[in-house]
Amino acid sequence: MKVVRTVDDARAAIPSAGVGLVPTMGALHAGHVALLRAARAENETLVASIFVNPTQFGPGEDYGEYPRDEERDLHVAEAEGVDLVFAPSVDGMYPDGFQTWVEVEQVARGLEGAARPEHFRGVATACLKLFNIVRPARAYFGQKDAQQAALVEQLVRDLNVPVEIRLVSTVRDEDGLALSSRNALLSSEERATAIALPRALSRGKLAFASGEDPIAAARAVLDAEPSLGVDYVETARFNGRVHLLAAVRAGRTRLIDNVLLEGSL
Ligand code: PAF
Repeated sequence: MKVVRTVDDARAAIPSAGVGLVPTMGALHAGHVALLRAARAENETLVASIFVNPTQFGPGEDYGEYPRDEERDLHVAEAEGVDLVFAPSVDGMYPDGFQTWVEVEQVARGLEGAARPEHFRGVATACLKLFNIVRPARAYFGQKDAQQAALVEQLVRDLNVPVEIRLVSTVRDEDGLALSSRNALLSSEERATAIALPRALSRGKLAFASGEDPIAAARAVLDAEPSLGVDYVETARFNGRVHLLAAVRAGRTRLIDNVLLEGSL
């Protein structure tokens, strides 16, 4: 497995066809592994990027604390058959004088966009840069970040980026908590309360299936866990899929999750 750290080296090392890209911010877990396996199965060359993208974190968010363990990530990537890891520096991605940003409008409003005003501009810009540098035929995103996935689908459609976006189902721990790099930041007490999030969403999904209000059902579960701060519980339609989505705060850690109510990935 090759590791490249500059845009020029990436361009020189990555073939011009048959490439699958899994963009990540590192701290790789079983959710990323599911993306890597899906990509490994259908592409000749598998590229993973590892870049904790500062522009998608707002002031006071957890950019500094975001878990980083490149050595471990490289072992995981190698074990999953990654051919090349692109791990650029912040200066390499955003050199002095950088001033071009990608704004996706409607999809970026509400939900995570309301809670984190600059977040999706940073995500969209980083993703378009990665697509331009790696030039993948396919790129893989997780259902857990449903609004991000929809935003990337929109960006690719609107800007005619020649990449197919593939979505992969959320991977959960045995207790139902969706895997996320941020789970590492939870204390054991916070983790014990955080599992109300997946419980609330599955209660909401059951309620929806029996013709009841999924938001009210999910809210009732979250309200019974007073130490969780609830940012939102909402439904949203993205590209023919209807999701029930929620964001909660367990201590200082913000967690998001969603379930599909209608449609498929
Ligand atoms: O989901 C993530 O890890 C990031 O938002 C992404 C897609 C790698 C862009 O920085």
